[in-house]
Amino acid sequence: MISFDIPDALVRSHRSPEGRAWLAALPASIAENLETWSLRPDGPVRNGMASLVLPVVRADGTPAVLRLQPPTEETAGALAGLRAWDGDGVVRLLDHDAGGGVMLLERLDATRPLSSVADDEEALTVLAGLLARLTAVPAPPGLRRLSDIAAAMLDQVPWAVRHLGPEDAALVRTCAAAVAEVLPEPGDRLLHWDLHYDNVLAGEREPWLAIDPESLAGDPGFDLLPALDNRWEAVAGDVPGGVRRRFDLLTDALSLDRDRATAWTLGRVLQNALWDVEDGKPALEPVQVAIATTLLAPRRRLG
Ligand SMILES: Nc1ncnc2c1ncn2[C@@H]1O[C@H](COP(=O)(O)OP(=O)(O)O)[C@@H](O)[C@H]1O
Ligand SMILES: [Mg+2]
Repeated sequence: MISFDIPDALVRSHRSPEGRAWLAALPASIAENLETWSLRPDGPVRNGMASLVLPVVRADGTPAVLRLQPPTEETAGALAGLRAWDGDGVVRLLDHDAGGGVMLLERLDATRPLSSVADDEEALTVLAGLLARLTAVPAPPGLRRLSDIAAAMLDQVPWAVRHLGPEDAALVRTCAAAVAEVLPEPGDRLLHWDLHYDNVLAGEREPWLAIDPESLAGDPGFDLLPALDNRWEAVAGDVPGGVRRRFDLLTDALSLDRDRATAWTLGRVLQNALWDVEDGKPALEPVQVAIATTLLAPRRRLG
């Protein structure tokens, strides 16, 4: 049996009775999966907000990782996405358990996430290139659909605005109006839904590969926000200029119509706003407000 402390982040993320039961069963579950797949532990465990990841070696000597997360609709989507991408720009799925929460994945270099690349433009260009490839793939059947997610968000807006001050409420309504306009064409591509700089690791098969998808079917414009709101310090000196630079680089790389991409990015801001209100936060995150305000402002004409 390997010994490790349950990371604090996982304790915070899995507070429900089911989550706590899952945490308590983790050591036994790891032992069982090591045995089932004939794996040998090979280094310290890692984690994100949701999952525990153990480096392992397979019986044939190949390095891999065992990734454990409580099985949910998200892990089912992740499996469907990983299968459809089949390693193209993304970590390869080697096997998984019946419930879908335990995955055996190709090992990448966890010490070299894309967030460790100092140059913002370079990191963004890598992220944009991966996003363009991933979102070019049609979504397989059975995935959650952006149309359903967006419609459910719009239903929540009247409730959410009652919990916000007038300026935040107005911004939420503006985002909702933008989403309502594009909702009839929700898109059918395979989205990652969480492609930020720590969800890209250096690999050997390809210099950079995505991990940790929460796939859904929809418009690629809905996938841009993590590339806009992370590494915020790099745009902090000139927020409108920096956000525009990022947005233009992303929409060029993905060949997206800027108006539609703006609408779906506002949809993503709306989603974050609704999650914040659900969590009892009294105001929207300033970074989210800054991104929405920048994208809503008219573009200055080049002289
Ligand atoms: N295929 C992999 N190879 C090496 N390390 C990995 C791999 N997948 C995940 N990790 C490590 O585990 C961490 C958490 O994994 P991730 O899939 O991003 O889960 P979470 O949803 O918890 O963020 C990553 O940030 C990385 O350090
Ligand atoms: Mg992650």
